[in-house]
Amino acid sequence: AHTAELVVVANRLPVDRVVDGDGEPGWRRSPGGLVTALEPMMRRTDGAWVGWPGQADIEVDPFEFEGTYLVPVALSAEDVELYYEGMSNDTFWPLYHDVIAEPRYRRVWWDSYVKVNRRFAESAAAVAAEGATVWVQDYQLQLVPQMLREARPDLTIGYFHHIPFPAYGLYSQLPWRRQVLEGLLGADVIGFQRVADAGNFARAVRRQFRYETKASGITVPNPDGTTRRALAKAFPISIDASSYVELAQRDDVKARAKEIRESLGNPKKILLGVDRLDYTKGIRHRMKAFGELLEDGRITVEDVTLVQVASPSRERVAAYMQLRDEIELTVGRINGDHDTMGHTAIRYLHQAYPREEMVALFMAADVMLVTALRDGMNLVAKEYVAARIDNRGVLVLSEFAGAADELSSAVRINPHDIDGMKDAIMRAIEMPPAEQGRRMRALRRKVLENDVARWSQSFLDALDGARERNRFPA
Ligand code: G6P
Repeated sequence: AHTAELVVVANRLPVDRVVDGDGEPGWRRSPGGLVTALEPMMRRTDGAWVGWPGQADIEVDPFEFEGTYLVPVALSAEDVELYYEGMSNDTFWPLYHDVIAEPRYRRVWWDSYVKVNRRFAESAAAVAAEGATVWVQDYQLQLVPQMLREARPDLTIGYFHHIPFPAYGLYSQLPWRRQVLEGLLGADVIGFQRVADAGNFARAVRRQFRYETKASGITVPNPDGTTRRALAKAFPISIDASSYVELAQRDDVKARAKEIRESLGNPKKILLGVDRLDYTKGIRHRMKAFGELLEDGRITVEDVTLVQVASPSRERVAAYMQLRDEIELTVGRINGDHDTMGHTAIRYLHQAYPREEMVALFMAADVMLVTALRDGMNLVAKEYVAARIDNRGVLVLSEFAGAADELSSAVRINPHDIDGMKDAIMRAIEMPPAEQGRRMRALRRKVLENDVARWSQSFLDALDGARERNRFPA
């Protein structure tokens, strides 16, 4: 059987299933950031990737794809409903994003979550070579580290949490709070986006188990009475910045940016929002502020247009259906009140676009609005900055996005403060080019230096450190 020295375990495989013109199914690399982040490393190490093919009831054997050995984990329609839509996205997602939407606690969802996590752990255990490194990704798979450790004590196990970890006052609502912490503590290194997330996790562990938690690690008891150390630490994720720079330098992409401006009627200022259609992103708050600016007469549709790209997401989960209805009602109202024959207030696009088109949009946008109510990192903020090779444009950034820790030269906002957000948007619209340049250069320095290759390297370095410690315990 095929084995690998480095195994990534994620809910999704790094490929999407596509069917060509003749009805023949095939695979295409998915556009996601994590995929690009880990691909070079996977190639270098002959790595394996364990994940779900993204559709219910597809059973496929493991296969080689562009230098990575892919191990599909099949999910039935029921698994998708209970484990993915239910427990992952109707319980953990809202709970971990500060209950912006109400989490639902359903025991059948939890049972399915345990069962599916076990299947992922078994697949990973089967493909990992003796002494291999296994890197588990995100909240869909929080039980996998512990399950893997039980099955394969020889492995070095990492876990990275891409979304926020909430304060204990919220976390403690979870009926399975103990089991989830035990699951995560199965890892040697538990990575978070922000220092605050790692702190919330350590506090939860203290409250739940009274374990000693220090910067150097959490002391976790082994079944045999000895102890080991688990490191909980911030590793802020990033993007492959140079690929955005390269796209921004392409003549066809530059031409497309100009074309976009023209097709919007050459407004003086273009504001841009780019999000998965998710209630954590603060899209309604953003539209409220924008609508009021029009209402107040501080801006007009002739001068300012808001382009909102909202890519479809988790469309069978009730909170997402409701959000879509609310957003589309709001867009209709604002446009109905303010549009003229030639100009629109909000150009709303419920679609996903290829990277080239996104970079052209970033280059066309004078102001990027990232108004998340809570967000693990928000890579769109970093993508916008990377694409602005002209050192122009203004990033308006929510303090509640992880990116705010690093991107301190953005115009910072509290999205709950509508008046404050309106003033910040006006400030961004009116910002002189010199100040735009000063801020954008500082932002670009951060994003270009700390790209995603550095992120994955520093996480894997921490795992190597853990392996050494385990081999030679103090
Ligand atoms: C967030 C999560 C990822 C997830 C992505 C898309 O970024 O942290 O784990 O893959 O959203 O959501 P989806 O449910 O479509 O995988």
